[in-house]
Amino acid sequence: MQKGKELYRGKAKTVFLTDNPSLLVLEFRNDTSAFDGEKIEQLDRKGEVNNKFNHFIMQQLEAAGVKTQVQSLMSDTESVVKKLDMIPVECVIRNFAAGSLCRRLGVEEGIALSPPTFEFFLKNDALHDPMVNESHITGFNWATEAQIAQMKAISFEVNNVLSPLFAKGGMLLVDFKLEFGIDANNDLILGDEFTPDGCRLWDSETRKKLDKDRFRQGLGSVVESYIEVAQRIGLSL
Ligand code: TMP
Ligand code: ASP
Repeated sequence: MQKGKELYRGKAKTVFLTDNPSLLVLEFRNDTSAFDGEKIEQLDRKGEVNNKFNHFIMQQLEAAGVKTQVQSLMSDTESVVKKLDMIPVECVIRNFAAGSLCRRLGVEEGIALSPPTFEFFLKNDALHDPMVNESHITGFNWATEAQIAQMKAISFEVNNVLSPLFAKGGMLLVDFKLEFGIDANNDLILGDEFTPDGCRLWDSETRKKLDKDRFRQGLGSVVESYIEVAQRIGLSL
């Protein structure tokens, strides 16, 4: 397989075509973005750490029966993925209150949510990813009712697989964001990434933040914390 032209450059990843029309290359860059691109910095090694972290997590999910876009690691910072037609919404599961939920509802950070909550957001930086509901998604034909049901069910399944995985490493999976796409067979597949850039992880005892909130809040040791998370779940980088 031969890497081809750049197809799309996002805030932290670049997508390349390949000589196989059903495969793409996903490059994880060191760029780190927060607040919808308002704060961007280059963090040494982050591309490599996130590429390997994502591959490891997606393998765990595949082993648990979740279909993912990832095919194989191609280099330190690149993975080969299946080409998907991405659904332009983000699916967020929360086990504990944090981030925009606290701002929106005026609740204290750290309150346990039992059962966990599920939210949809529209992927649109200019509008700051507004929350949308199922009728917006069907009304604008972003996804069908059946696809909505599948995105929800798979998101909760991912939570059921990953919460215990992080718990074994002494961490709370506070919340996370997933994106889905449709493959050539019209199957709904988990796409994009699962890394500490797109989830919140706290030490279970001290509740120390080990995810991208370290970057958002200027707490320092961002990549060092991602590497610590990886080590705690059995991935040495
Ligand atoms: P939020 O608290 O800002 O709504 O974010 C919830 C989770 O989703 C958090 O782990 C960060 C992740 N997320 C992204 O990765 N990208 C995004 O654009 C948004 C809105 C959230
Ligand atoms: N992922 C978004 C951004 O890059 C939002 C965030 O993580 O704060 O700006």
